[in-house]
Amino acid sequence: MEANSRLVVRAPTNGSSPKANGSASGLTVKAKPAMASFFSGIGGIDLGFERAGFRVALQCEIDKYCRSVLHRHWPDLQPHKNIKEMTNADVPVSEVWAGGFPCQDVSLARMGPRAGLRGKKSGLFFEFARLLEGGLPRVLLIENVAGLLSSHKGRDFGIVLRTLADLGYGVGWRVLNSRYFGVPQSRQRVYIVGCYRDGRGPAEILFESERRQGNDKADGSDGKKTVSPFKEVLGDPLKGPIVPAIAYCLYACSARHTGTDWSRNYVSYPDGRARRLMPIECERLQGFPENWTLPENGEFGDADRIDTLRYYALGNAVTVPVGEWIAGRVRAYLEKTKIRNAATGAPHSYAAENNPSVVLAQKFQAPGIWPLARIEG
Ligand SMILES: C[S@@+](CC[C@H](N)C(=O)[O-])C[C@H]1O[C@@H](n2cnc3c(N)ncnc32)[C@H](O)[C@@H]1O
Repeated sequence: MEANSRLVVRAPTNGSSPKANGSASGLTVKAKPAMASFFSGIGGIDLGFERAGFRVALQCEIDKYCRSVLHRHWPDLQPHKNIKEMTNADVPVSEVWAGGFPCQDVSLARMGPRAGLRGKKSGLFFEFARLLEGGLPRVLLIENVAGLLSSHKGRDFGIVLRTLADLGYGVGWRVLNSRYFGVPQSRQRVYIVGCYRDGRGPAEILFESERRQGNDKADGSDGKKTVSPFKEVLGDPLKGPIVPAIAYCLYACSARHTGTDWSRNYVSYPDGRARRLMPIECERLQGFPENWTLPENGEFGDADRIDTLRYYALGNAVTVPVGEWIAGRVRAYLEKTKIRNAATGAPHSYAAENNPSVVLAQKFQAPGIWPLARIEG
């Protein structure tokens, strides 16, 4: 067994948790690869990784309500509060580190000048990088709004790539839209993957070179053209309700907000009534089990206040099936490289505490899978 995989006996996490899927005896005994989650929010990435067969080994989240949701679903973990206060001693050795650092300073939804990575919130990326330098996990995953690509005319994105490359990571990215992952929500996010000292890994993970199975003909047609999904509506035209076939992207907003954000996504009725989506509907649009975002206890105020917290956290979350898809590909990559490295004698795991190549890693030149010239911070 590898040094960093443990035999895990996991009791059902929570009798009522919709993600609990233990064996008939209620216990599962499995050695699973570990993932450490940073900026965990309500655990969209974590749940995706767990569904793909990973074990969540660490969570870190500053918001009290989000921590309460996390604790309801992962009662064995005590989420760290503030990434700024964490040291590498807090992070158990994990094959994968994942997180979506706060996007407020790079998001186009801000409609004004964007502070970018100099901002207090999005600048927390550097705290993640500080820990990365001491941990050097095999694979890292970062999620953010697509606005990260254009913040400061691309310079911020260049800094992210350069920082990871300087630590020894081959880096790749892909913009994925949740609507292609089984949920009716158009949500574009950029997913950045880093593989330690491996320039091919990110592309192996993020881009499918394999053909799907079936009897596709090489000269087959592309099929029917799709009409714009935004024009397609579903529902009973006489009684309602009527909803767009694909919802607009959910944003972090409050239950009382009457501005443009929620009014993009609404449910209408032929008699002229309209309503906003309910939290449970937002959970479905993000691929979470129903009522996932209910907090653990009643200390968060009345129903309106709790709805606001739920909308806000759901608007910030990673769509679970997107996380699961990436996690499945990371898992396949880890398996494949384990076999590849066993054949060449290269180490399978790199942990800072026993990794003499940290210095070497810092000098390592990023393989050219990203085409940017060097950008000075
Ligand atoms: C974009 S959200 C991540 C959402 C998450 N991926 C999910 O699926 O729910 C960023 C998260 O970072 C958290 N955060 C902000 N500052 C933090 C800090 N100093 N330490 C830890 N977490 C922080 C925010 O509360 C927020 O939940």
